[in-house]
Amino acid sequence: MVKGLVIGIIVGIAICVGVTYYYFASGMAPVAVSDPLMPFERRLANMALEAHIDKQHVGQPPITADEANLMAGANVYKRNCAECHGLPGHPSDNVNMMFPKPTQLFKGKGVTDDPPAVSYWKSANGIRLSGMPSFKKNLSDTQLWQVSLLVAHGNDVPEPVRNDLLAATESQPSTVNQADEKTPEGKRSGGARSK
Ligand code: HEC
Repeated sequence: MVKGLVIGIIVGIAICVGVTYYYFASGMAPVAVSDPLMPFERRLANMALEAHIDKQHVGQPPITADEANLMAGANVYKRNCAECHGLPGHPSDNVNMMFPKPTQLFKGKGVTDDPPAVSYWKSANGIRLSGMPSFKKNLSDTQLWQVSLLVAHGNDVPEPVRNDLLAATESQPSTVNQADEKTPEGKRSGGARSK
């Protein structure tokens, strides 16, 4: 009786492992940006990420969300983040070219419902297999907090900060994707990327 149960459990586990292996090894699993979601993919990925960040106990921002810090955050944002996460009223072109889609941080609630510490962790460490880069080698700790405070206030940035963010879109009204201050004006009209 007990022996039968044990054999049943072992066979059951072997079938589960075999089916999962076959799903990935046979090329059935989604791998392209436009493929549909894998069963439980989003829930499992979010669960792992949230649990991991929770365990890190990042703590409270060491700086306040005053206008000077938000303005400094906007500077960091324009250079490093806007290309994927968009600007107020200007979604990024990358939204439809990536999986998962980069959240538009100035659209709707963005990440204003996440504590700044969570965005700080994500900006510092990146998100594996998502296209979200890690910025801890390129940005200082203060800059990481400044940009995290900015996105935490994505839906209520002070007017001067908003204007500063939008100054980046003046030369390219429909996209922020090709904002490259070093590109000479003449090259832009050809539509070719300079890189
Ligand atoms: C090359 C594109 C790219 C760049 C550049 C980029 N990100 Fe991201 N980011 C992503 C993607 C993709 C995700 C994953 C969205 C998801 O998990 O659904 C993401 C996720 C995030 C999230 C979590 C969003 C959410 O919905 O929970 C935050 C916050 C974030 N990025 C902040 C930043 C900041 C700040 C910068 C600049 C310092 C930046 N990102 C630069 C692509 C990018």
